Amino acid sequence: MHLHDDQPPHHDQPRHHARSWWEARYAERDGVWSGRVNAVLASVAPGLPTGRALDLGCGEGGDVVWLAEQGWDVVGVDLSLTALTRASRAAVSAGVEHRTAFVAADLAAWDT
Ligand SMILES: C[S@@+](CC[C@H](N)C(=O)[O-])C[C@H]1O[C@@H](n2cnc3c(N)ncnc32)[C@H](O)[C@@H]1O
Repeated sequence: MHLHDDQPPHHDQPRHHARSWWEARYAERDGVWSGRVNAVLASVAPGLPTGRALDLGCGEGGDVVWLAEQGWDVVGVDLSLTALTRASRAAVSAGVEHRTAFVAADLAAWDT
């Protein structure tokens, strides 16, 4: 059962709406995403020299973990603490936590 609108919030909606929408989505079940790397990333990244990567809206960390496994140092940013907790656990499970860092932030208001 969906407890929220099916569509992600639009950028002109209040900021707290985005966080609560995504938290509700993640609360629906353990493991919203596949945990596997995005197919486009998997096809493009092997042609690049490894270095540092920033995953904006990293979710449960499927791409972060995969990149770290390929030798990248990766920072994942997301506004959902639930997603970041899962991403961090996935990095530990994969043994790549030393190559990963996670930041809780709303990119609509992020100020480095
Ligand atoms: C399509 S999901 C990413 C899934 C991820 N690739 C994975 O495999 O787990 C989009 C992500 O963007 C995050 N997000 C949406 N709006 C955001 C914002 N304004 N700031 C930070 N993260 C945001 C959501 O919480 C969600 O985790």
